[in-house]
Amino acid sequence: MAGNRTLTMIKPDAVKDGHIGGILSKINEGGFRIVAMKMTHLTTAKAKEFYAVHSERPFYGELVEFMTSGPIVAAILEKDNAVEDFRKLIGATNPAEAAPGTIRALYAKSIGENAVHGSDSDENAAIEGAFHFGGTETF
Ligand code: CMP
Repeated sequence: MAGNRTLTMIKPDAVKDGHIGGILSKINEGGFRIVAMKMTHLTTAKAKEFYAVHSERPFYGELVEFMTSGPIVAAILEKDNAVEDFRKLIGATNPAEAAPGTIRALYAKSIGENAVHGSDSDENAAIEGAFHFGGTETF
């Protein structure tokens, strides 16, 4: 059965360019309830841990550098079928391939600076949610 929560991060490019409000509007219009949210600045150690699954990929160093380049907004979102529906709302990883109207089509600059993260499975949504939020920060 599909789970009902996913983890998103509004990435440093989108925060720096003033797109927090626009992205949160798309999240609300998409029918997601925000159950946890914070603005934070990842340390190198935390960014490496979050993206450890990509540690062997050639872009890992670039990804960690980018994700620590400025503050992010992390949030847990709730909706039926949250992981899949949120990935539809954000569009393809590469904004050049993202469907019109998706968050990445609207706000992402490149495959690296791609405005938002969305969990890729229910299992990772739970791991990533617990990475950013304790039980008393989730409502
Ligand atoms: P995200 O959904 O946060 O998950 C992994 C991230 O790695 C992805 O978004 C991109 O930001 C980044 N990424 C994936 N492929 C590349 C690539 N070819 N070059 C740089 N960054 C990439």
